[in-house]
Amino acid sequence: MNATIGQPLTRVDGKLKVTGTATYAAEFHRPKLAYGALIQSTIANGRVTKIDVSTAKSAAGVIGILTRENAPRFKPYPDNLTKNGAPGESRVPLQDDNVYWVGQHLGIVVAQTLEQATHAASLVRIQYEEKPPLVSLADANPVQPEKFIGREKLQAKRGDVNAALANAMHKIDVVYSTPIENHNPIETISTTAEWEASDRLLIHESTRGIKQLQKVVANSFGLPAENVHIVCKFIGGAFGSKGFQWSHTLLAAAAAQLVQRPVKLTFTRSQMFDSAGQRAYTDQRFSLGTDKTGKLVALRHATTTHCSPVSEFTEPCGNMSRMLYSCPNVDVSHRLVRLNLTTPCPMRAPGEAPGVFALECALDELAHKADIDPVEFRLRNYAEFNEFENKPWSNKKLRECYQRGAEKFGWSKGNRKPRAMLATDGSQIGFGMATAIYPAGQQKAGATAILNKDGTVVVRSATHEIGTGTYTAMSQFASDTLGIPIEKIRFELGDSQFPEAPNNGGSWLTSSVAPAVMGACRELKKKVVDLVGIWPNDSTQLANLFARSGQEQIQAEFNSEPNKEEREKFSFFSHGALFVEVHVDLLGQVRVKRAVGVYDVGRMINPRLARSQILGGMLFGFSMALMEATVPDETTGRIVNANLADYHVAVHADTPEFDIDFINEPDPHMPDLGARGIGEIGIVGAPAAVANAVFNATGKRVRDLPITPDKLI
Ligand code: MOS
Repeated sequence: MNATIGQPLTRVDGKLKVTGTATYAAEFHRPKLAYGALIQSTIANGRVTKIDVSTAKSAAGVIGILTRENAPRFKPYPDNLTKNGAPGESRVPLQDDNVYWVGQHLGIVVAQTLEQATHAASLVRIQYEEKPPLVSLADANPVQPEKFIGREKLQAKRGDVNAALANAMHKIDVVYSTPIENHNPIETISTTAEWEASDRLLIHESTRGIKQLQKVVANSFGLPAENVHIVCKFIGGAFGSKGFQWSHTLLAAAAAQLVQRPVKLTFTRSQMFDSAGQRAYTDQRFSLGTDKTGKLVALRHATTTHCSPVSEFTEPCGNMSRMLYSCPNVDVSHRLVRLNLTTPCPMRAPGEAPGVFALECALDELAHKADIDPVEFRLRNYAEFNEFENKPWSNKKLRECYQRGAEKFGWSKGNRKPRAMLATDGSQIGFGMATAIYPAGQQKAGATAILNKDGTVVVRSATHEIGTGTYTAMSQFASDTLGIPIEKIRFELGDSQFPEAPNNGGSWLTSSVAPAVMGACRELKKKVVDLVGIWPNDSTQLANLFARSGQEQIQAEFNSEPNKEEREKFSFFSHGALFVEVHVDLLGQVRVKRAVGVYDVGRMINPRLARSQILGGMLFGFSMALMEATVPDETTGRIVNANLADYHVAVHADTPEFDIDFINEPDPHMPDLGARGIGEIGIVGAPAAVANAVFNATGKRVRDLPITPDKLI
């Protein structure tokens, strides 16, 4: 049988999706289902003095209302989910009267229909004691956070930046900034909570952290984890949302307990802006210097970002600046200010996306100043090893990415002088490039493989399908390991009763779960060989042999973990280079016309899915460069554009011609796998490539995203 790994297979779940039969969280119909609507604060800072639900209670269809008055005493979230820069909310809902941002959840109304619940929620009258909110980065006192999600240090120094700057030949000192941005997957967040018994809870939620949610909910209600069952078969996009702990799950579960019926709570589009995370503001100051040959001698990257008054998640903008380029004197720091805005969380390459945007633009400025071609400038500062961790790379083919990308794009046909290229319609043409980088994480995971009588195999793991192709990729790993056709494999995910898998994030799903899948399949093979003597690479023969064994099923399990020695010895990162052509018209409208990206992400598992991942990521990057910004009102803290008419995202009409290519060299230090993960690297560098191209087209250096027409004319 031919191997499926490396083949551009179409999605095994494609038919379910295009026929509308893939079941998303909001689509599980439960008997006696009731509908929830959130009660949310209308002020950004202060406390609730009174909640009057009397009118709401007597409105048509209302079954129950849960507020601070009748809420259960949730146990607090465990420390490992709330301290040390952890994302998600740090406080369980409805335990005090404090209000920290507009839209904070103050309760939930349950009614027979969604419309009745929504109407009744609007009838709840709340009185507040109000304080002026802090909404702007400039107004608050910063603190110095230590850790990003408990693991990465946020302050790092080597050498002497000031001394090096004093002697540098070419220098820049610039500030870049990026706005708040919101995840806007097509599927909004949804939870359906149902008490199957007084101590057993079933939750259908769009979550990319099934096991974590199970533990969080069990802990809050004081239940054993196995009494909470979380199901999520498909996720309609997440982009960093739909993970971690947020109020809505506990509210839906408590409401279901109150009314003794299943309760479904689905976010409106506007609730996606205030109820489950967003990307924080970033303000990034760079001081960079080179010697006369263009070699970096000093790099200071000081980030100020924000969190809510009750969390400490930091957007880690400087973390790639520590090691993307070779530089002896580096000072990377992060400061955090607490604003009366909803709690931020990871979004599409947290830190890397805004941080590498700023770094790659600042580098472009420096290259321009030193009069060196931007690609050449990066080659002169190539990091042969990770100078921050002082370790060799597991594998790094970035040089090849630059070379192949530049060639495909026709980089040498550009003109480094701004405003030098004109299109036939009078638009200015600009070429821009940037480097992409993303860490290749790996986590522990488990899987079960079951051989059925008919020769088919079911493989299970409590992992997730956020649209990236998990069902397909994992079926490929199982098929190749077992040597049986992919049609005979069924990969199942999205159920907390399956073996433990990590939260789906950090671009580590494949590299974490695939080893477990392969391990379980190998174990299964062994068991079958023990039982019937051989493993025939043919499912009909397999079924025949198996029939003679008299067993119903054969099951094997495997728990995988990252190879500690390799992980300690090497530094694992994916790299890439991207090149874009933009056209800027007389009205200052920027169009990305062409995008070429070449990536070194290790071995290709499925080139079709890989291309789709990178394409989506790049488009996010163009969207970030040109459109996306969440705008809170400076006096009230209310988000003024919490909808998709006013918050712009790139759509099909904004899609350029893409040329996406991969080095496709297996990583020798990812045993068995060779793949380093591909989820988030596509966005990294994309906004910088656009901004640099806009400079090349117009001579204008826009340092605050998004690059809207008003900043160019
Ligand atoms: Mo990513 S937003 O770290 O899943």
